[in-house]
Amino acid sequence: MKLVGVSGSLIGSKTPKAVYEVLMAAKSADPTIEIELVDLKEYEVEFVNGTPLSYYNDDTIKVVNTIQNADFLIFGTPIYQASITGALKNLFDHLPIDAFKSKVTGMITTGGTDKHFLVTEYHLKPILSYLKGVVPVGNVFVQNDDFNEENEIKNAEVIGRINKLAEEMILLQKALNGK
Ligand SMILES: Cc1cc2nc3c(=O)[nH]c(=O)nc-3n(C[C@H](O)[C@H](O)[C@H](O)COP(=O)(O)O)c2cc1C
Repeated sequence: MKLVGVSGSLIGSKTPKAVYEVLMAAKSADPTIEIELVDLKEYEVEFVNGTPLSYYNDDTIKVVNTIQNADFLIFGTPIYQASITGALKNLFDHLPIDAFKSKVTGMITTGGTDKHFLVTEYHLKPILSYLKGVVPVGNVFVQNDDFNEENEIKNAEVIGRINKLAEEMILLQKALNGK
């Protein structure tokens, strides 16, 4: 089983770190799981204009194919203006509407204020559900204060939630695979 993590931040380091921690937690829970991090800041994903995927640049095609070839996925986004980033929304716009059929799609968010901890419930979850993803009950919000200066997540409660999310994602994906 391959778990792909997507970080929807085009400049920062907190979101890719948070996504990476979910990937590592999954690997630790089940070492047979293959993991890959797609950090969107390392790719030039073009804006969707309605043309078929083959009309876009190599980075766009690579990122979309990596997502489509994953067995299950964890999406990370910083909160931008009380929503997900435009970069992540643009990526979703590249996908067919059944892109996540029979796939678990988890969510992890970073934000400056915990007042926005429910943003993904209302802005990201509906998109994942529309694309037929199975969204776990658990989702993790990591506030900037939860990181130390070395960009490590220092809050033990958050680390516990990350571990639980990874375990829930594996459990759900194995159940879906067994259908
Ligand atoms: C353009 C912009 C808008 C932001 N809007 C919000 C916001 O509405 N709510 C919030 O809690 N944090 C907001 N933030 C803070 C980021 O979500 C936060 O710093 C996050 O950890 C950045 O993650 P990164 O290091 O992966 O880029 C915003 C940051 C930027 C750059």
